[in-house]
Parts: sequence; structure tokens; C-alpha cells
Amino acid sequence: MVLEAIQYVPGRLKVLDQLKLPHQLEYEPVRTVEDAWSAIKDMRVRGAPAIAIVAALGLAVELANMPDQYKNALDAEAMRKTVHEKLDYLVTSRPTAVNLGGAAKILKVVVDETAKQSGSQGLTVLDAYVKAAEQMLKDDVKDNENIGKHGSAWIKQNSPRAQSGPISIVTHCNTGSLATAGYGTALGVIRSVHADGNLKHAFCTETRPYNQGSRLTAFELVHDKIPATLVTDSMASALLRLKGDSENIAAIVVGADRVAANGDTANKIGTYNLAITARHHGVKFLVAAPRTTIDLGTASGADIKIEERAGHELTTVSGPVVKDGKLDLVGPAERISIAADGIGVWNPAFDVTPAELIDGIITEVGVAEKDVSGAFQLKEIMTK
Ligand code: MRU
Repeated sequence: MVLEAIQYVPGRLKVLDQLKLPHQLEYEPVRTVEDAWSAIKDMRVRGAPAIAIVAALGLAVELANMPDQYKNALDAEAMRKTVHEKLDYLVTSRPTAVNLGGAAKILKVVVDETAKQSGSQGLTVLDAYVKAAEQMLKDDVKDNENIGKHGSAWIKQNSPRAQSGPISIVTHCNTGSLATAGYGTALGVIRSVHADGNLKHAFCTETRPYNQGSRLTAFELVHDKIPATLVTDSMASALLRLKGDSENIAAIVVGADRVAANGDTANKIGTYNLAITARHHGVKFLVAAPRTTIDLGTASGADIKIEERAGHELTTVSGPVVKDGKLDLVGPAERISIAADGIGVWNPAFDVTPAELIDGIITEVGVAEKDVSGAFQLKEIMTK
């Protein structure tokens, strides 16, 4: 079985409902931009690249399935305007990952350029939009495979522990096939190190409160038969101190939702803790992300909007329970409380790791490192 978060054929889109993983593998159809918006908002699909692609393709299938009389009635300008309005709506679903807004910007340029061409009709604009959205799906897998290759080579060359044999890598959240069009970013680096025969072990953090590590990354690692161990987020420092040598832990590799121009990186809550502990223990700390996640328009991490999510994600759980001696699944709608009633909750979905703590940013065209002044020059990697 190939693990796919997104299944697309022209005119039809389905997403794997990640709220039900790892217990149930269920795909749900996305027919409209409203379907795409709520799948993203409710995190049935999540991960920066995946949400951008689902938004783009959600609109593509809605447009493709418009009844012919509507399609034909819209001239180029009306179709251009419709696409703009629907993209503006889609980007309101989640604020932190730049990939979503970035994809919308690229797609708007495509429809603007097409609408301007002489003789352009509504259908021409529609076709150009669908082609561009489909291309995003194709490009993402290729980019991730290249991120994997660059990351694997960089660690081999730059981590002292990689000089003495197979290495272990720690990762956070889920950045794999489930968070992208396929292969993954940080998890793609682990896949690539494994494929190169250099992986001793992968460690994934549980990633509270949403448990992307224990539910999704663990699922992918088991699926791919990669030797792996789950730890809670709070075990990371003890892991590096007590098992760093015996497991030859060379790096912590994480994904990103937005990398600011100075290299400050927003990623899943808990990433910042991991960067601090990596520095303290002399372990490389790497961010793996496609260039679509680098936002030169955001000067530093202080300018990144951090999404805050509902408190119930922290105070309740879903999953399997034993009811009347039988295993039953408590669905996302009927979650079980695990906290004292009445307690206040702060639930930021992401944090910002300062560039200072990051050793390299692995992209599809190479690894960005700091210059002699200690600053990332991300403009260079964007024009490579
Ligand atoms: O809230 P999520 O699950 O969408 O957060 C996901 C992450 O933080 C990932 O690390 C990031 O989006 C990169 S996915 C390749």
C-alpha cells in the first residue's frame, strides 16, 4: 500500500482523514472549496505542503465540475475574479504555514496572465488554473526527494557522529507522505538516510497535543519498516543525554511552516525546545523544507502569526476504548476528557525557533548554511 494523504485524478479529489489515523484508513471526497476549507481547518488534512495542495486542487475540482452552462457563461474576467475570491477564502483556513498563501499568490498570477491574453475566455482561464494546481502536486514529490538527498549528504559530511557509522535521527510532528504530496521533508531525510544504508534508528516525538508523531509519523515509520522508537516530547533531552552516544544520534531534523528571511522558523509547537536541547548536547539541528516554505517577505520570526487552536485538543482525546469488552473507536466528535474541568488552556499550534539555533535549512536545491557573520542568506537559495 502506498501512503497518500491526497488522491487526485482530474475532476476528483479525496483526502485521507488524518483524525482517524492510525486506527482507520478512510478517504473523504473534497468536491468544493468549502469542503477543502473545512478539511484543512479541522486538520483532517494537515502539514504545510499538503494543505496548500488540497486548497489548490479543491478549487480545481470545483471549477472542473461546474455545470457547462455556468462555465460557458463566465468570460475571462469573471472567471479570474471567481478564482481570486475563492482563493482568498481558502487562505483563511489556517494562518501560519506560508505554503497556502504562497500557492494562492502563484495561482492568482496564472489566472491574471491568462485572462490578459487576447481571445482568452472563461474556459481558457479555468484550464490554466487547473493545470497550474496539478503541477503543484507533481512538483512537491520531486522536491521532497531532492530534500532527502541533500539532507542525507549534508549530515554525512557535517555531523561528527556520522563519521563513525550509521546514525540515528530524531524528528518531531509529521512531515512525511501524510503532510505532503509524498515522501516528505524531514521524514524524507530519514527515508533517504535509511535508503543510503546509513540509518541506525529513528526517534519520533509524540507531538502533543495533536499527536502527529505517535499517530502519523509512527504509522509511516512502521509502514516503511524503518527501525524506530516513539518518545514523549518531554523525553527528548534525556534521550540525547542518555542515548546520544549509544544510538549515535547525529541530528534532530524537523519540518517548517514558515521560514522568515533571517532563518527564524515557525514549526509545530515543541520544535523550539528541541532546538535548545540539540545545541546543549552538541547535536545538529536541521530544518527541512521546500523553498515554497521560505518567506522572504517576513523579516523575522516576530512577524509570523501563530495559530492558536481550541482548548479541547489539549483536554480531550479520541481513539480506541474498550466498551462492553470490545474495542470501540471514540471518534473526533465524542472525545474523552483527560483534564480537570474548568482548567484554562493555552494551545498555540506552532512556535518559532530562532535562526541562531539552526545549523542548516535543507531545501530541494541544497542546504542553506550561515555565512561568517552567522546569518542565513536565504535570498541566494531562492534564486538558485
Ligand atoms: O499543525 P500541523 O500538523 O499542520 O503542523 C505540521 C507541522 O508543523 C509540520 O512540521 C510542517 O507543516 C511541515 S510538513 C512537511
